[in-house]
Amino acid sequence: MDYPDHYDTEAVLRCKQDLLQAAQEQENQTISDLFRQDPDRVVNFSLAAAGLHLDYSKTPLTEGVRSRLCQLANSAGLKALTEATFSGQVINHTEKRAVLHTALRGDPEEPVWVDGNNIKADVTTTLDRMEAFVEKVSDGQWLGFDGREITDIVSIGIGGSYLGPRVAIEALRPYWEEDLRCHFVSNIDAADLATTLEDLTPATTLFIIQSKSFKTQETLTNAESARDWFLKGGGESSEIGKHFVAVSSNVALAREFGIEESNIFPMWDWVGGRYSLWSAIGLPVALQVGMANFRKLLAGARAMDEHFREAPAEENMPVILALLGIWYQNFLGASSCAVIPYDQSLENLPAHLQQVDMESNGKTVDRSGNPVSMATGVVLWGGAGTNGQHAYHQLLHQGGEWIPVDFILPLKSHYPIGRHHAMLASNCLAQAQALMHGKSLESAMQELQAAGLSVEEAQKLAPHKVIPGNRPSHLITLEKLTPETLGSLIALYEHRVFVQGAIWDLNSFDQWGVELGKQLCDSLLPLLESPDASLQALDASTAAAVQRFRESSG
Ligand code: F6P
Repeated sequence: MDYPDHYDTEAVLRCKQDLLQAAQEQENQTISDLFRQDPDRVVNFSLAAAGLHLDYSKTPLTEGVRSRLCQLANSAGLKALTEATFSGQVINHTEKRAVLHTALRGDPEEPVWVDGNNIKADVTTTLDRMEAFVEKVSDGQWLGFDGREITDIVSIGIGGSYLGPRVAIEALRPYWEEDLRCHFVSNIDAADLATTLEDLTPATTLFIIQSKSFKTQETLTNAESARDWFLKGGGESSEIGKHFVAVSSNVALAREFGIEESNIFPMWDWVGGRYSLWSAIGLPVALQVGMANFRKLLAGARAMDEHFREAPAEENMPVILALLGIWYQNFLGASSCAVIPYDQSLENLPAHLQQVDMESNGKTVDRSGNPVSMATGVVLWGGAGTNGQHAYHQLLHQGGEWIPVDFILPLKSHYPIGRHHAMLASNCLAQAQALMHGKSLESAMQELQAAGLSVEEAQKLAPHKVIPGNRPSHLITLEKLTPETLGSLIALYEHRVFVQGAIWDLNSFDQWGVELGKQLCDSLLPLLESPDASLQALDASTAAAVQRFRESSG
């Protein structure tokens, strides 16, 4: 490891034992009991920071457990690791890289050094280049090959080079620039590209090829097919420069593709793909909502960074959310967590957070290469409320496993139509209430009898109506979904992942697990495409599937 390691294994072990004991001691205590014991529970278990408010009172957390969990974070050297990260030390030791997405949104005057270079200067220059580009496109100075203005942007990228920008654009719909529409193509499935291009005109379309490595199969194949579409649609090779720009750290490959060097926006090794929204990967966002709003998004994230860096653990929103997750998973046995925004425009936030969380902490080897001693990583899932209420919430309420939920609710809507927003909010609050209170057999019986059922009938039906309750949820509210609050919200989850990775002693910033699939895919592709190639090296099931594919392709 290239940075001072402050992880105190012995102390972590002692904290774990303490916490296991605490979990046993409070086995029969319900969340409702905790509210009865502490009339100020809501105040004592709420926090406000960077435009967000977190109420975590509807949880099985006591003050004692909270302070033990904070000790755990302390023993894991969280503070030191945080400072090492923000100051540019090589935290991602398996790839020998610093982890500095926070520098992309940090104070430009505060230098951060990587290999003797103040990267803040590069960040500022890149933001200025983005601004100039955005202005040219939105002012109609950037013209397509037949002299018309650009009306459509197609961002081609996958994973971190796609999910964050898509979420930001969807979430910031009220801030969209008129006369410009951003589209996304990510999947290697041709349906994605074909259906996106269906209604577009080559002469007025600008492609942004988003790939840190410029080697990702899906992105390159989609980019090549997009270039073919452009050339078949009237564009000349010499005009590719007017219709294709790139964001990449691999300038040579982007140039080889045909993109002019002046149209390649940089990415750096010290920005991980899933944390790259804040870099030039955010270019589609800047085009769609304007550069001023993109800078506000960065400012919101910076406010959360400052809070995360400065607030003591017990008052630190990302730390508290992370510790709650650790409490549930490592001591109370949860294996999944749901993020449910009551905001249609955040429908795809869980998909972005899935990459941030699961690609970061879906690991079982610690930073020294030894197997970890506790459960790590969590299945993160979710979707927009109220839609989920008519789909998977049944399992949240009566399923065999309890699943902690983050409810996210903007207090004001951008669409003040009739009673919609109050209804949305009441649904959100009702779900959290239902999870906590549930319904006892006794009240189910009373309800059924009040509805006219006989005792015998009620006894048969009542068990189906019992809802266990005592299921935790957190309520994150914000005044309104703006570029600033969105930035702060996404940064909140990034830091939550960081804290959990620190406690589990993982390298949260590599992703070796995804490589094997890529390697196997590369060796299977020629077998699918050449009917005579031998399948002997394959397992029987894969060989049979390849054979079926070949037969079907004729
Ligand atoms: O899925 C693996 C991954 O490497 C992600 O971490 C990354 O965000 C994505 O692929 C895309 O990579 P690139 O930007 O290099 O095309």
